[in-house]
Amino acid sequence: MPDLKINFCGIEFKNPVFTASGTYGFGREFNALYPISLLGGISCKGTTLAPREGNPPPRIAETPSGILNSVGLQNPGVEHFINEDLPWLLEQKTGIIVNIAGSTVEEYCEMAERLSETAVDIIELNISCPNVKHGGAAFGTSCASVTEITGEVKKHCTKPLMVKLSPNVTSIADIAKSAEAAGADALSLINTIMAMRIDIETRRPILKNNKGGLSGPAVLPVAIRMVNEVANAVNLPIMGMGGISDWRDALEMLLAGASAVQVGTILFNDPLAPIKIIDGLNRYLKSHGIARVSELTGAVQLW
Ligand code: SIN
Repeated sequence: MPDLKINFCGIEFKNPVFTASGTYGFGREFNALYPISLLGGISCKGTTLAPREGNPPPRIAETPSGILNSVGLQNPGVEHFINEDLPWLLEQKTGIIVNIAGSTVEEYCEMAERLSETAVDIIELNISCPNVKHGGAAFGTSCASVTEITGEVKKHCTKPLMVKLSPNVTSIADIAKSAEAAGADALSLINTIMAMRIDIETRRPILKNNKGGLSGPAVLPVAIRMVNEVANAVNLPIMGMGGISDWRDALEMLLAGASAVQVGTILFNDPLAPIKIIDGLNRYLKSHGIARVSELTGAVQLW
């Protein structure tokens, strides 16, 4: 049997397939369909210091091959996560990534400190949410602010710190280098691409927030390109995401330079997608005589 295990930030995960933040809640609903212990792990819904209601609706719009969202970080807050969701998640024996978001550097630091006292595996620093007025992507779109927030949060974090990058920048490789220099242990990319749709009858944007973030199969080639650029620019492990729908997409992401993948928007069509992806990767490794999935990371041969 090929070896699907990966070592990511010094932690062993049973395979490289994770679910992406904001598409899987805290895993409970999906666990009714299959044991979430089959996954490498899950990245929980973006969590803030205080509970948030999110943005007013409509905040989801379908697009050709994708979804536009402006959810606005609706979540029950970090204390609720620690007291109500984490104990259940720990029983499920799956990898646990907590995606944290905030309006100020201090909020991020407080959450990192609080979560460092728990048994979560990785803290994912979400500095790329495009749907909030304060914080979010504002921290992730300049090298100076990425350096500042990564460095500050790192001081309060004893867990591996994985910085989630925004694609809405001129050079994602430069942003990645800033995160690396400031002490990031890993990177995840890409968050959603800023986008907009307009209702031609009302002549109003479909989303109440006017704009939102595009995800789904439409963004896969952008994500593959960005993961490859970042992999060539830094020496950090990468979780690649953006439009992965099947095992072939996941494989492309690994070849581009990711050590693991996160699967998101496809879950709204096919909740079993991550399980099928694990299965497909296993079959590919077997049929190609490849002993370990980790051999695929960065194996693309550029012309
Ligand atoms: C949201 O809740 O608005 C999406 C989160 C994100 O893009 O990071």
